[in-house]
Amino acid sequence: MHDFTGRTVLVTGGTSGIGLATVRLLLERGASVAAIGLPDRQLDEACATLPGRALLIGASVANADEVDEAFTRAESELGPLSGVFNAAGISRVMPVAATTDDLWAAVVAVNLTGTFHVARAAARRLSDNGGGSLVCIASELSLVGQAGYTAYTATKGGVLAMCRSLAAELAPAGVRVNSLSPGTTDTPMLAAEFANEEERARDQASVPLKRFATPQEIAHGAAWLLGDESSYVTGTNLVIDGGRTGTFLSRPESRSEPMSSVLVTGGAGFTGRHIVTELADAGHRVVSYNRDFLESPDPT
Ligand SMILES: NC(=O)c1ccc[n+]([C@@H]2O[C@H](COP(=O)([O-])OP(=O)(O)OC[C@H]3O[C@@H](n4cnc5c(N)ncnc54)[C@H](O)[C@@H]3O)[C@@H](O)[C@H]2O)c1
Repeated sequence: MHDFTGRTVLVTGGTSGIGLATVRLLLERGASVAAIGLPDRQLDEACATLPGRALLIGASVANADEVDEAFTRAESELGPLSGVFNAAGISRVMPVAATTDDLWAAVVAVNLTGTFHVARAAARRLSDNGGGSLVCIASELSLVGQAGYTAYTATKGGVLAMCRSLAAELAPAGVRVNSLSPGTTDTPMLAAEFANEEERARDQASVPLKRFATPQEIAHGAAWLLGDESSYVTGTNLVIDGGRTGTFLSRPESRSEPMSSVLVTGGAGFTGRHIVTELADAGHRVVSYNRDFLESPDPT
């Protein structure tokens, strides 16, 4: 577990959800932390509850001047930055036909242009400081599509691509750049995403681990990427999603009743064997036909 004593880290979106959990974790591990968030009630609450080593700054990542001023203030009050976690973001769920230019522009302004503003400021500061780590939050929706998320997925895919170029460009200056892609995480953002409990339960059931992430579980990934334990990691995307994007949940959980009988020709070959196994695991009775006729064992 990396000790951040003597280090200064700036976290955008640091007044709620994943960003706030990361601010708390970094403070526990000894860092001085500048937390940037919109000037709203969440910022006031964070000011009231976070310990003195946290510097809270109200600023919008969509505004380049405000971002640059926040970086200047963070370094002048807390010392040179060694890490930046860009966790600010917004989500708007809307069918594409109903997506207005304003909605598109708002999501792009925060998630994509905001990430650029923060990455540019981080590149300048961390390079001047002799190196460091920049982590930009993306999403599992940078890897897969979902109905209603055209604007959001476009920005999150852009974050992945941007981070790969930044990693290539900034490596000579000792600056590592990685993206972090959470799956669905229990934060205030999530509360606005589901129309009702049934929708929430259906979404949860599609995660192999059968639950959403906690903000703390994502914060641990961010802290690992920010600290020296990941010193050889750059240009990658850390996915923390309970297995959702890496697996295929099509298999019925109960296999008591065979679903059908299937004849597979060439079932002894490499691909054929996999198909026979998949079908048998899914509950089908499989007959595998090869040069030397053989019948698969009864499915369990
Ligand atoms: N919660 C999830 O399920 C989930 C899943 C994947 C990715 N993400 C991403 O993680 C990030 C954090 O999400 P969360 O769930 O913690 O959200 P949240 O709504 O709980 O917190 C969002 C934070 O971003 C800040 N913010 C919003 N707009 C800003 C702006 N223009 N300038 C500066 N700060 C701004 C808010 O002040 C707040 O601190 C987002 O980028 C989101 O897209 C979330």
